[in-house]
Amino acid sequence: MLFDKKDILDMESLSSKEINFILDTATSMKEISERSIKKVPALRGKTVVLFFYEPSTRTRTSFDIAAKRLSADSISISANTSSLVKGETLLDTARNLEAMKPDVIILRHVFAGAPHMLARSLKASIINAGDGMHSHPSQSLLDMMSIREKKGSLKGLKIAIIGDISHSRVARSNCIGFTKMGASVILAGPLTMIPKGIETLGAKVEKNIDKAIKNADVVMMLRIQKERQKGFLFSTEREYARAFGLNEERLKSAREDVLIMHPGPVNRGIEIAPEVLDGKYSIILDQVTNGVAVRMALLYLVLGGARNADSN
Ligand code: CP
Repeated sequence: MLFDKKDILDMESLSSKEINFILDTATSMKEISERSIKKVPALRGKTVVLFFYEPSTRTRTSFDIAAKRLSADSISISANTSSLVKGETLLDTARNLEAMKPDVIILRHVFAGAPHMLARSLKASIINAGDGMHSHPSQSLLDMMSIREKKGSLKGLKIAIIGDISHSRVARSNCIGFTKMGASVILAGPLTMIPKGIETLGAKVEKNIDKAIKNADVVMMLRIQKERQKGFLFSTEREYARAFGLNEERLKSAREDVLIMHPGPVNRGIEIAPEVLDGKYSIILDQVTNGVAVRMALLYLVLGGARNADSN
């Protein structure tokens, strides 16, 4: 397949065929991380800039590891140590970075649409590593890879996404991505955290969390994003855990082979009980492992790896 995307910005702009191609590429790349020498020369001579305006553990580290495993040179910049603190705009900063000839800029930014703006203005490939509450495409792709590995396909699965839907770019990306791949998505959580009109992304809203979990093939729990919330959306953490947290009792109504997922970071004991987080149904650390493979595939594909391989 010809993969001709310059940028990876959101799940809306990827077709199901492109998603499958990315996941197939990631699956074949996963084996590199199992080798004793975890490096191939595929992107030798390429430069990747990691530009993160918000904190990150998983996304930033896995993009960095992915670049290094493909032999690209990677450099990491944080907002608080860049000249942004002196008043430079995002676009001016990005233009200055581009003047140093990077091939890819990976951007995490607090504002929805920031990666799209850079993609329109720069020649370098832009990969969205999370923009505000809008989109987190590499997370959605690694979630799909993790489900596909265990279930073979997303087609026909019932996937419940539970928690702070309003502030979650992961929930938005997964509503779009999962339904595109043939799954049905049920959203549940406190009514104060379910945005109006979210059904337009293809998901159904279920007010009762136990109904959402019943017969689910996959249950994905989300963190309460206090850093984005304005005002009080729930009473206490203990009350939230009781009403909306996933515990062993609640899990009994899901399918016997249910997968428990979480994009991280987890608030252990709030949205998910420790025995479920660390239990036999949890694939949360598999998600993290697959994050490296998916990000290797994205870097390889936006830099024309598949085209070059075809022409060799
Ligand atoms: N899931 C995710 O985006 O985690 P980080 O914020 O640690 O990157």
